[in-house]
Amino acid sequence: MTDDPRRLVLVASNRGPVSFGFAADGSLISRRGGGGMVSGMTSGLTAAARHDDVLWICAALSDADRAVARQDPGGTRPDGEVPVRMLDIPPRMFSGAYNGVANSVLWFTHHMLFDTPNQPRFGPRFRQHWDSYVAYNERFAAALAEEAAAAVLPPASALIQDYHLALAPRLLREARLDVRIAHFSHTPWAPPAYYRLLPDDVAGAVLDGVLGADHAGFLARRWAGAFLDCCEAVLGADVERDCTGDGAAGRVAYRGHTTEVAVHPLGVDAPALRARAREYDVEAHAAALAEATRGRKLIVRIDRTELSKNIVRGLDAYRELLATRPQWRGQVTHLAFAYPSRSELAEYRAYTERVHEIAREINEEFGTDDWEPLILDLKDDYPRSLAACRIADVLLVNPIRDGMNLVAEEGPILSGRACALVLSREAGAAAVLADNALLVNPFDVSATADAMHEALTMSAAERQRRCAGLAATAASLAPGRWLADQLSALRAAP
Ligand code: G6P
Repeated sequence: MTDDPRRLVLVASNRGPVSFGFAADGSLISRRGGGGMVSGMTSGLTAAARHDDVLWICAALSDADRAVARQDPGGTRPDGEVPVRMLDIPPRMFSGAYNGVANSVLWFTHHMLFDTPNQPRFGPRFRQHWDSYVAYNERFAAALAEEAAAAVLPPASALIQDYHLALAPRLLREARLDVRIAHFSHTPWAPPAYYRLLPDDVAGAVLDGVLGADHAGFLARRWAGAFLDCCEAVLGADVERDCTGDGAAGRVAYRGHTTEVAVHPLGVDAPALRARAREYDVEAHAAALAEATRGRKLIVRIDRTELSKNIVRGLDAYRELLATRPQWRGQVTHLAFAYPSRSELAEYRAYTERVHEIAREINEEFGTDDWEPLILDLKDDYPRSLAACRIADVLLVNPIRDGMNLVAEEGPILSGRACALVLSREAGAAAVLADNALLVNPFDVSATADAMHEALTMSAAERQRRCAGLAATAASLAPGRWLADQLSALRAAP
């Protein structure tokens, strides 16, 4: 064990590890935040808290969160876990930043989701949202600066997460020169030709904001490379690219400061996940699902109902599988879990409707008295998701684009049947899982149906070998190490 003094590590993200609600009697109940960023960071930070002081700064998302933030502005520690400070951001400012810019503009840009003949259109409304986004980032930068000033052993490290907070690194640097700043993108990054859909000043401000950091991290080389390309093409920054090394992608010199750009793929805390999946509630769900599907082969997908996840084409591919390979009718069931997401946005509501519609069509077209070809469930249920991973024969992960995709890694770790993985080549996870997955072009519905067929017919020995390889890779990229690598790179930065 080391006797090194404890240093301060600050994390900033929109969604935090916990969110509160009010129970019927008015008391507070807490629930865990969802999504890939939150689960990876929670696990990584819990490991870091053994030798450093940590504080996670996030936005108050619910009314109960706001009440907590007002009562206890200095931070709170629910369930004895990572301490959290919630920022009480005015609802209008929050909505402009979160819905108006982060989710409907930056997310769409990096995932290349715009229906470009019609969208985006940047007018006065967008400018109001952009002002909110700037103000929201200022709130976070001010809170980080305040906490960093209180560090017993400076300099503090500030780990700023995602596209919600692209401006915060620069704003924090302007407020405090001594803080070590990292920014991490859990999404893809758009190539310059697409990135330039953004208004020129916004495109420049977002890049300049991230370049306020000493270290900019990405989940895959492709995304880091696109970021470097954008820095060069949009800002005319001085970019150096590394073609070798253990994950380093390059560096950008801009406005007298150099930012290291690096790749840190994120995996899974395999022992913790396996232990959770052995608990009673998961066992019960696994038994119920097996009963409902009566020994048939299972194709499983687990996603949020998110445009980038490509659920509609996935269902189309399943329909094509049943239409072109009648031998599977009655022999296979598709379990599609599509959990609610961002329902404030009209595009998401329409997409959810479309998912329902196709599911209905498939069951009408192929269903029989004793076989329901597709079970679609939109109710978020974590233990049931773990159970589905345990009993899947095939796991379908076919996003249009995805920063990493943790389901592709969790599935093989939990699999009790040595599942075959059908994986989009556009997911960041493909960079590390390609050897043992069946890679597909997510736009090619027929190729996805072919891959499902190949996965269903793969020999047991081949499935065992591939699944073990997938699980080993995912386990080797555990969040504790992922975070520790970023912290040491940040502390080693000049
Ligand atoms: C996914 C992405 C994260 C992002 C999160 C936001 O999980 O991987 O990068 O932070 O979505 O989701 P939210 O539900 O908070 O809008």
